[in-house]
Amino acid sequence: MKHIKGILLFLFVTGAFSDEHSHIYEDNDEVVLWMNTVGPYHNRQETYAYFSLPFCAGPKTHIDHYHETLSEALQGVELEYSGIDIEFKNNVPRFQYCVVYLEEEKFKAFVYAVKNHYWYQMYIDDLPIWGVVGEVKDNNYYIWTHKKFEIGYNGKQIIDVNLTSEEKVLLAPNNKLNFSYEVIWKKTDTKFEDRFDKYLDHNFFQHRIHWFSIFNSFMMVIFLVGLVSMILMRTLRKDYARYSKDDDIDDMERDLGDEYGWKQVHGDVFRPASNPLLFSALIGAGHQLTTVVLSVIVFAILGELYTERGMLLSTAIFVYAVTSPVNGYFGGSLYARMGGKLWIRQMVASAFMLPVFVCGTAFFINFIAIYYHASRAIPFETMIAVVCLCLFVILPLTLVGTVLGRNLAGQPDYPCRINAVPRPIPEKKWFMEPGVIILLGGVLPFASIFIEMYFIFTSFWAYKIYYVYGFMLLVFLILIIVTICVTIVCTYFLLNAEDYRWQWTSYLAAASTAAYVYVYAIYYFFFKTKMYGLFQTTFYFGYMALFSGVLGIICGTVGYIGTSVFVRKIYSTVKID
Ligand SMILES: *[C@@H]1O[C@H](CO)[C@@H](O)[C@H](O)[C@H]1NC(C)=O
Ligand SMILES: *[C@@H]1O[C@H](CO)[C@@H](O)[C@H](O)[C@H]1NC(C)=O
Repeated sequence: MKHIKGILLFLFVTGAFSDEHSHIYEDNDEVVLWMNTVGPYHNRQETYAYFSLPFCAGPKTHIDHYHETLSEALQGVELEYSGIDIEFKNNVPRFQYCVVYLEEEKFKAFVYAVKNHYWYQMYIDDLPIWGVVGEVKDNNYYIWTHKKFEIGYNGKQIIDVNLTSEEKVLLAPNNKLNFSYEVIWKKTDTKFEDRFDKYLDHNFFQHRIHWFSIFNSFMMVIFLVGLVSMILMRTLRKDYARYSKDDDIDDMERDLGDEYGWKQVHGDVFRPASNPLLFSALIGAGHQLTTVVLSVIVFAILGELYTERGMLLSTAIFVYAVTSPVNGYFGGSLYARMGGKLWIRQMVASAFMLPVFVCGTAFFINFIAIYYHASRAIPFETMIAVVCLCLFVILPLTLVGTVLGRNLAGQPDYPCRINAVPRPIPEKKWFMEPGVIILLGGVLPFASIFIEMYFIFTSFWAYKIYYVYGFMLLVFLILIIVTICVTIVCTYFLLNAEDYRWQWTSYLAAASTAAYVYVYAIYYFFFKTKMYGLFQTTFYFGYMALFSGVLGIICGTVGYIGTSVFVRKIYSTVKID
């Protein structure tokens, strides 16, 4: 129920954007210590609920507020109240808050956790805190039982939390463990805006390599744009020149004459792509995704979203829902221009393609998570909430977009007439085959982003906070430009080989970038991470497939848009009849 409430709030009041946290506390106000997860240190994506280990909660059971957003639930963040009483600016001397009697089963659970270097994570006022469960020494297992919180405050705000684990107790069957805590408040001068600085790894993200890679990609962009404009300008000018000379010759003669190359296919180049329904659904989704990614990156730069747990995902879901008309508009209008009649089917495909892809992957991983009792299992209410979001928000908005698109931009206005009979596609060299062009198309775009991929993967899989969204925006723009240039060159070669099937070819040539990213993800898994086990592996490869898929749709769409502008341009100067 709280998810449904959460989503309603999220949709209508943008309430989820501020949570209930204003981060302002009066003296003696309740400060909540949330328990998040435990898991092995060397495998940070494997997490279980904190209380899945036989820890005990403090005596306090009632708290004034509880909050959880949809995005937290989707990420498997399931915060539980610790029961530990903390009040703003109130020092607490050492206080024993609970006792655990180590029966056989609890003893074994703790020994297993200590042996596997388990650590746990907690939150105070959205600040993450980490602590280790215990320590192994000479084949004896010890557990830390005392938590010392040193909390820094500035005015009415919490700035900094340090946790020190003390009091090592030997784990032995039938022992009693007394868990205790103490709180020490300290004044600091650090500003609230800077409180996340200590979590940011400047050495890692602002490494020379990062700057260097941006510079490199930038050079590649200049080179590519120069190359594309040079080659195309020259070739086109020559073609145009020859064409105007032949102006007085009969149409018939020109068609049968020694002309070759892209102009030969003017009667077929605007022929609708095969499978127009799927194609326009992909293009619509691609427009929407590109908008979402650009807006989320800009929001992240402006709003420092990384300081709020789950904020990035909340923003992404919100922007995705709101931009559904974009999907309908571009998908619907393209489908109409291609003469498609099944527009309702196209709209439904367009609206649900991505949600089904995302939810399918998430639910599949979820089943495995449930089997392993990992905390990443998505609650049932969350699934219902997502389905409601798709049916009652995304679908109607897509419908609005589709109707607008079909009426405003649904008329074909191609510069060349489409011949009634398709022209046969001549035999060509193997490297001009669409398959080869598609495969090669992704190489340069991938080269322009793979260093950034390393940083993104590392922050996602190794829990570093990614905060350099300026870099990300730059890389995204570079990727767009490189993709467009490369697909234009590919399409030009294809058309010159008198193959007019450029729509799918340009789309797939750009989208093949994602295939390279996935191959890189496989490399990253084996050489850069220490993940193991079925759950981990499925989790990793499932989410990487999602990531690559989304990237592929974006690149494909961007490539197609660039190419179609180019194709219109070159054929609009060809005078037929
Ligand atoms: C926490 O630890 C850091 C580094 O040791 C120190 O600079 C900071 O003052 C500590 N904060 C508090 C509240 O004790
Ligand atoms: C734990 O607390 C109980 C009473 O609450 C006390 O009898 C016992 O000695 C304590 N054990 C340790 C190891 O401090």
